[in-house]
Amino acid sequence: MKINIDRLKREIEELGQIGRDANGGISRPSFSKADLEARAWLKERIQGAGLIYGQDGAGNIFGRIDAPGKAVMVGSHIDTVINGGMYDGSAGVLAGLECLRRINKEGLKLKKPLELASFTDEEGNLVGDFLGSRAFVGLLDRKMLEESSTQFGHPLADILSSTEFSIDSIMDAHKQKPDVDFFLELHLEQGPVLETEEKPIGIVDCIAGKNYCLCCFLGRASHAGTTPFELRKDAFLGLSDFALKATQYVATQHYGSMVTVGKVAVHPGGFSIVPGRVDFSLDFRSTSKETLQDMEQRLLSLAKETASARGLEFQFKVVDRTEPVTIPSHIINILKEECEALGYPCMTLPSGAGHDAQILAAIADVGMIFIPCEDGISHSPQEKINWDDLEKGTNLLLNTLLRLAL
Ligand code: HGY
Ligand code: MN
Ligand code: MN
Repeated sequence: MKINIDRLKREIEELGQIGRDANGGISRPSFSKADLEARAWLKERIQGAGLIYGQDGAGNIFGRIDAPGKAVMVGSHIDTVINGGMYDGSAGVLAGLECLRRINKEGLKLKKPLELASFTDEEGNLVGDFLGSRAFVGLLDRKMLEESSTQFGHPLADILSSTEFSIDSIMDAHKQKPDVDFFLELHLEQGPVLETEEKPIGIVDCIAGKNYCLCCFLGRASHAGTTPFELRKDAFLGLSDFALKATQYVATQHYGSMVTVGKVAVHPGGFSIVPGRVDFSLDFRSTSKETLQDMEQRLLSLAKETASARGLEFQFKVVDRTEPVTIPSHIINILKEECEALGYPCMTLPSGAGHDAQILAAIADVGMIFIPCEDGISHSPQEKINWDDLEKGTNLLLNTLLRLAL
């Protein structure tokens, strides 16, 4: 049994038109108009594939082939970062849909139910990361949902008010969840390794953990023409100094771990004003839990040292912590065996990107299949995959699902 790559390609390209701007960037944050359109599109395809459609209180979408026992789940997410690509998440959901559609058509007698999942807000545009999969697993903190504002500056409740969902329905979502034995996720690597090693398949052995902080350096706004350098309390220079020192610390002390300042707002933000305040995001990641803890402690003290050396104040709030996850060796072995049986070259590698699979790991045995992406680019309209690689990855997903469910 093989998947139909032409149909999968067509569906990925169709979904990729929803939320796309004139420059080809896709912005489909969860519960946005574009996301609601994408959800309706996916629901039609799940029902068209003959699967039992479902949705929980967090807006997680499901498609099921019923059978007794604990489910073998496959899925990812269809929400995107702002100005993202058309494969991150969507390729995994639609590859899973194609596999279940093929299996359903054969009318096989399953030992376990097969369930497709498309999780809400994997990208963390709303509150924290992995809102949907955390709601599904029951790992959400109500206070955080009520008190935090989203990446767009609105409280979550305001965004939900135009949908059928609420903080209550999100908090209750886990009560509806089916029992899950296994969760498999196909995803593009979002890095350069598979392309460099010329491997069409990656079998993930570990998913990096990541911490997010919202930070600010506070100085004093003053006149750009009259304030001598030695009297300035320039918040932007404080951030620049810190960002370079933070990168040097991680690159030299924890090479392979990451630190990124992705979002910066300079205030008041005028030509002739020395910045009095900079708000910025701090994303840092590691495949080791201990390293992540060390990094948090060292990065925050580095920021405080930089602030005091420049007569500034430093404030921060840790908004999210996700632990690294090691993939169970028996799942890695199954994926390797199925890969070998298909004659596909593969390699194991860690995932520097976060994925819903690392949240599902709290309740199921998880596995991830990576396919290469061109120049390792992702979270960008330049994101691109090779359809042959996706065909191989999806056939591997199909065979592994059959092995686990038959
Ligand atoms: O940022 C991440 O690791 C994921 O792509 N959301
Ligand atoms: Mn993703
Ligand atoms: Mn992503």
